[in-house]
Amino acid sequence: MGKLDGKVAVITGGSSGIGRATAIALAAEGAPVAIGGRKAAALEEVAGIITKQGGKALTQTMDVRDETQVAALVDAAVSDFGRLDIMVNNAGVSYPGNISDGKVEEWREMLETNVLALLIGCREAIRAMRANDPPGGSIVNISSVAARSTGDSGQVYSATKHAVNAISDGLRQEVHSANIRVTVVMPGGTLTNFGRTMPQEVLTNAAKALGLDADEEGVKHGEYLPAAGVERVLRDHPGVFLSADDIANAVLYAVQQPPSVQVDEVLVRPSVGMSLGG
Ligand SMILES: NC(=O)c1ccc[n+]([C@@H]2O[C@H](COP(=O)([O-])OP(=O)(O)OC[C@H]3O[C@@H](n4cnc5c(N)ncnc54)[C@H](OP(=O)(O)O)[C@@H]3O)[C@@H](O)[C@H]2O)c1
Repeated sequence: MGKLDGKVAVITGGSSGIGRATAIALAAEGAPVAIGGRKAAALEEVAGIITKQGGKALTQTMDVRDETQVAALVDAAVSDFGRLDIMVNNAGVSYPGNISDGKVEEWREMLETNVLALLIGCREAIRAMRANDPPGGSIVNISSVAARSTGDSGQVYSATKHAVNAISDGLRQEVHSANIRVTVVMPGGTLTNFGRTMPQEVLTNAAKALGLDADEEGVKHGEYLPAAGVERVLRDHPGVFLSADDIANAVLYAVQQPPSVQVDEVLVRPSVGMSLGG
């Protein structure tokens, strides 16, 4: 018996990092999952892992910045699996940098992905959760420790995560009477593919500090990190970064609580890399 048998979940940004780990973890507890992301091959790989473990997954190649595609992901979950109980608004991007020399297209992508798409995801999830009999469900919004400071992840990114927390606080009050619970999970530095937007020089130096040769290992701007390198860094530098599984566990904790328990916020940091934001 899984702890989430009978529940159905949607995860945005399920092709990589925290969303990928969360999809696998929720499915391992018995929830059929609908996962959206931009990379079809990566989504198929996640679905393959889930089905091999005896779980159920559907994938949709989509861009969360398109309102209709977010609605279609929720609709696909309801149509294939019958209902929606858990919505994890996880897709996000970061372009670290200052405001004084910032680029509008990077600000727009962060605001549209981290804030607007999350709002649309909340609205679409509420629509589906209100249709449950009885109505209800859990919305988990992936924020960041950057919601608590303007740290090292960039001011505009940090502003988007402050917005995620404010939206989640307001929404919690708005939907509690419909038996919908809202949680924000705030990860600290987590070793995923999130840093791929950083300039190559920054990636090369970071890889070097962690004992990796960026050229040999394939640490490249715009690309996913090599899985073997991620495993080695987590093993050889414990506590410097969280793993994506650490955050998936935080999501699992929130959504497994009985209806009498509302988890508002979970903030998780790596024990050594305390100052690392994300
Ligand atoms: N890693 C950290 O240190 C850290 C710390 C705090 C908070 N977070 C938050 O955690 C969440 C997940 O990030 P991650 O660390 O797992 O990074 P990641 O490995 O880069 O994964 C990000 C996911 O979001 C998806 N995505 C981005 N833009 C999208 C779009 N326009 N449409 C659809 N999907 C989109 C990506 O899809 P594709 O790969 O298919 O493009 C990917 O699946 C983000 O909200 C991030 O802000 C991360």
